[in-house]
Amino acid sequence: MNLTGGWHWHWRAWRSQKRWAPASAQIADWLMAQSMPRKQLILIGASAGWMLPTSWLAQFEEIHAWDIDPLAAPLFRWRHERTLKRQGIALHLHTGDGLARLTDAVRAMPDAFFWFDNVLGQLRFTGEPLDRVSQRLKTLQQSLKRVNWGSVHDRMSGPTLPEVTLPLSRPGLAGVAMETAEGQAWLQHMGAISPWLDHLTEHVLPKDTPVQHTAWPFKPGYAHWLEMGWHPAD
Ligand SMILES: C[S@@+](CC[C@H](N)C(=O)[O-])C[C@H]1O[C@@H](n2cnc3c(N)ncnc32)[C@H](O)[C@@H]1O
Repeated sequence: MNLTGGWHWHWRAWRSQKRWAPASAQIADWLMAQSMPRKQLILIGASAGWMLPTSWLAQFEEIHAWDIDPLAAPLFRWRHERTLKRQGIALHLHTGDGLARLTDAVRAMPDAFFWFDNVLGQLRFTGEPLDRVSQRLKTLQQSLKRVNWGSVHDRMSGPTLPEVTLPLSRPGLAGVAMETAEGQAWLQHMGAISPWLDHLTEHVLPKDTPVQHTAWPFKPGYAHWLEMGWHPAD
């Protein structure tokens, strides 16, 4: 069973568009401002691209998107294909495990930009033992050394004070631990009420990679701390 995608994700995303719009706009502004190469894009965990700006996708010449959810491809087409087609962008939508195919994709498309779109923070829900997930996430950067790659992922999520106004995105460096003064200050700004869930992504991006932290009002009284950053090929 797919606990992080499927019809329940699409239903929530469709219903939440207004609530999520400020967070989506902050992600979009960050993506548009980055200087990652824009030739081929490999998108992993694309779903329907509910939180992805079409304007950013349209800057690539070719897109390969992967999702294990069979509903992802038709809904991605519905949301983004018309604009992409008009601009002559080649769109290839694949149903399957993008993480399992990563090594092959890196070999086949070494000049592509690899983007993990809110998928790495979900691996803790796959049933795999958590220490193995943590280890897998820590070592992912090794398999990506030769390519340009990046990720937006949940760092933590949990209940918030009912009256809180979520803060605007702020820049930072990857690897900030939640128990540090910086991590605690950010959680406090989000009105976090203990306990928050650790999505095990603290070490996904190489330490000190410039990142943006974004507060995402997932549902009333419950927010996610999103971290996004990218790393050039070594
Ligand atoms: C939280 S959703 C994010 C969706 C998307 N980025 C968006 O903005 O709509 C996580 C997605 O990752 C997909 N997923 C989970 N594991 C995957 C894997 N190994 N390969 C490809 N997709 C995966 C799920 O099916 C789900 O659609």
